[in-house]
Amino acid sequence: MLISNRSKTAFITGAAKRVGKTIALHLAAQGWNVGIHYNSSATEAQLLREELKSSFPLQQFEIFKANLNNANEVENLIPQVVQVMQNIDLLINNASLFDRGNLLQTDTNFLDRQMNVNFRAPFMLIRDFAHRVKKGLIVNFVDTRIVNNKSNFAAYSLSKKALWELTKMAALELGPAIRVNAIAPGLTLAPEGKGDDYLWKLADNIAMKRPGGLHPILKSLDYILDNEYLTGQLLFCDGGENLGLTN
Ligand SMILES: NC(=O)c1ccc[n+]([C@@H]2O[C@H](COP(=O)([O-])OP(=O)(O)OC[C@H]3O[C@@H](n4cnc5c(N)ncnc54)[C@H](OP(=O)(O)O)[C@@H]3O)[C@@H](O)[C@H]2O)c1
Repeated sequence: MLISNRSKTAFITGAAKRVGKTIALHLAAQGWNVGIHYNSSATEAQLLREELKSSFPLQQFEIFKANLNNANEVENLIPQVVQVMQNIDLLINNASLFDRGNLLQTDTNFLDRQMNVNFRAPFMLIRDFAHRVKKGLIVNFVDTRIVNNKSNFAAYSLSKKALWELTKMAALELGPAIRVNAIAPGLTLAPEGKGDDYLWKLADNIAMKRPGGLHPILKSLDYILDNEYLTGQLLFCDGGENLGLTN
C-alpha cells in the first residue's frame, strides 16, 4: 500500500477505457486523485468518474476532453488540469492511435496523425508538465514493437520509437526533480473488435506463450512509482517478445 501517494494527483491520457481506465482504477485505490483525459469516449469517461467518486468519495476525479491531434487543444490541457486539480504529480502518456499501414500505404495525413497523437502530444504535455511542477513523475506508454523494424504499423512503430528516445532525453534534462520512465506492453488487450483468440494465436510465438493481460502493466507502474532512483528506463511487459519470436 503506497500511503505516501495519498492526496497526490495523476493525470492519465486516454483514461476512459482499456489500459488507461485500469490504471485510473488502480491509482485511485492507492489514494490518488485522478484527471481522466478522453477524446471520443465521453460516456465512458463520465461513467468512470462516477464509479471512482462512489468508491473513493474523499478523492478528486475530473474529466478533461482534448483531441491530441490538435496542438491548441493539447496546449490547453496541463493548464486546465492544474487549474481544476491544483497540481499534478504524475503524468501518464497512455493515449495512442494504432493504425495499420506499411511505408507505401502511409500517406502524409496518416503519418501526421500517428506522430501527433503518439509523439507530439506527449512531447508537449511533458514540456508543459515540467514548466509547472517542482517534483513529479512521468510514465510514457510505448510498445515492445520499438525493438524491431517490421513496417506493418510503420508510422505507429516510429512514433513509439521516438517517444522512447524522448523518454531518455527528458529524464536527463528534467532530473532530479522529475523522473521519466516508459512501459512497453506486448500482448495485453486485443484491439477493439478482435477477440482474445487473436492474442493467444500471436502468443504462440513468444517466450511466455500467453498474453500478459493488464497485471504486468500495473506491477511495472507500481515499481516505477516506488523506486525513486529509477529514471530514463524502459520496462517491457511483453512476456519476452522483445527478445524475438520463437518460430
Ligand atoms: N493493448 C495492447 O495490447 C498494447 C500493446 C502494446 C502497446 N500498447 C500501448 O499501451 C497504451 C494503452 O493501450 P490501449 O490498447 O488501452 O490503447 P487504445 O485503446 O488503443 O487507446 C487509448 C485511448 O487513446 C485515445 N486516443 C486515440 N486517439 C486520440 C486522439 N486523437 N486524441 C485523444 N485521445 C486519443 C482514445 O481515447 P477516446 O476513446 O476517448 O477517443 C483511446 O481510448 C497505448 O499507448 C498503446 O500504444 C498497448
